[in-house]
Amino acid sequence: MLPPLKLGLCGLGTVAQGMLTVLHDNREIVREKAGRDIQVVRVASRTEKPDVDLLGGSFSTDLATVTDDPDLDVVVELIGGEGVALDLVRRTLRAGKAVVTANKAILASKGDELLSLVREHGGMLAFEAAVAGGIPIIATLTRSLVANEIRLLAGIINGTSNYILTAMTESGQSFAEALADAQKLGYAEADPSFDVEGIDAAHKLTILGALAFGVGFKFDEVYTEGISEVSGEDIEYARQLGYQIKHLGLARTGPDGVQMRVHPTLIPEGHLLASVNGVMNAVLVRGNVTGDTLYYGPGAGALPTASAVVADLIDIARGNRPELPLMTRDNSVTLLGIEDVESGHYLKIPSLDKPGVFARVATLLSEREISIEAAIQKEQAIHTETQEAWVPIIILTQPVRESVMNDAIDALQQLPEIVGRIRSIRVEHLGDE
Ligand SMILES: NC(=O)c1ccc[n+]([C@@H]2O[C@H](COP(=O)([O-])OP(=O)(O)OC[C@H]3O[C@@H](n4cnc5c(N)ncnc54)[C@H](OP(=O)(O)O)[C@@H]3O)[C@@H](O)[C@H]2O)c1
Repeated sequence: MLPPLKLGLCGLGTVAQGMLTVLHDNREIVREKAGRDIQVVRVASRTEKPDVDLLGGSFSTDLATVTDDPDLDVVVELIGGEGVALDLVRRTLRAGKAVVTANKAILASKGDELLSLVREHGGMLAFEAAVAGGIPIIATLTRSLVANEIRLLAGIINGTSNYILTAMTESGQSFAEALADAQKLGYAEADPSFDVEGIDAAHKLTILGALAFGVGFKFDEVYTEGISEVSGEDIEYARQLGYQIKHLGLARTGPDGVQMRVHPTLIPEGHLLASVNGVMNAVLVRGNVTGDTLYYGPGAGALPTASAVVADLIDIARGNRPELPLMTRDNSVTLLGIEDVESGHYLKIPSLDKPGVFARVATLLSEREISIEAAIQKEQAIHTETQEAWVPIIILTQPVRESVMNDAIDALQQLPEIVGRIRSIRVEHLGDE
């Protein structure tokens, strides 16, 4: 048998403790599949945790005891964020060692730099745990589907947002109520903005896009919108039209380039992704050879995420190089700006309850060649503070370029009959357009 793979662990939180549990409980399975032992030699973190079994590793609060130990084969970074975590990953890669990380933030913003450090110094970089926790989506894109041209990725990749939208849909809760419940249950942080404003999902989509399309890690260019403005009314009108609202990460390749965007999206109620509820994640991948394939599972949590971390360790222990498929991409593919993207739109237009308003709205849209696919006009008028009766006009449009839709919304907003801000949410059929 080969000598053990010597491991240094940085961080001792949720995922790190999960990793130690998997290495302990599945020791025989890991040894058999890796063809050698995986030995925890050093652990460094901010706080010592005497109750945690370090499997023989020695503890220090000094991260340099891990990064600067020349005897280690692999450093597992499970601290998170871009500060010390990024420093230690850079330092380890400069020493030509292997890094395993679950840190989507550093990959999304510095992935290209980290890969060039791998190229320069001959180390390795593995990050199966960085996207969708227990779902093996990185290996799927870099190995299993590698013979395909990837045409579409559509993912529910933030459990917090999916939990909130599911609660709003199923129990009619408001965004604030569903968020408060998510916080009570530990599904949302005290400061939830990272999740509900779409940043976490954009980090993950950046990584998936880099793997699928060779665009490099361009987090700053991913259009990002969260769910905090989705209302119960939007969800109800979407339902009446046969749709559900999900927070999707979408990446699609077309003749003009690659589009990558994260936003609330109306998807048909019958689509498989519409049935992904609660904190679960799912990713749809459309390959030109396979057609649509769908991956579903827990997107977070100590053990599902640790399963992915240990899979990377076993891969490295066997002598594989998980990052290799990324090294040959030239990253010259153009990323489209959101204004050039085409999608359908759900519009909620608050308008005075007078005859002829719908016709004016329809005319204005048709002047811009925007076709209406479906509409709802409420008969029950709502009264504003000025006592003028108003009704929301709900319109679903055919796919239209974003810049054209924005121009139409600006023009609609100028009409004297429109009494409030027009709400717009993109619509995707996820068919083989
Ligand atoms: N949790 C999940 O379900 C999940 C899923 C997928 C990916 N991830 C990713 O996995 C990584 C770890 O997440 P986690 O949930 O395990 O985080 P966590 O529970 O907050 O653990 C972070 C660990 O790092 C330590 N730490 C923080 N700042 C430090 C510093 N300056 N120096 C030394 N140690 C420091 C913390 O010390 P203390 O013990 O003193 O706080 C803690 O032990 C992140 O990149 C996260 O995005 C997490």
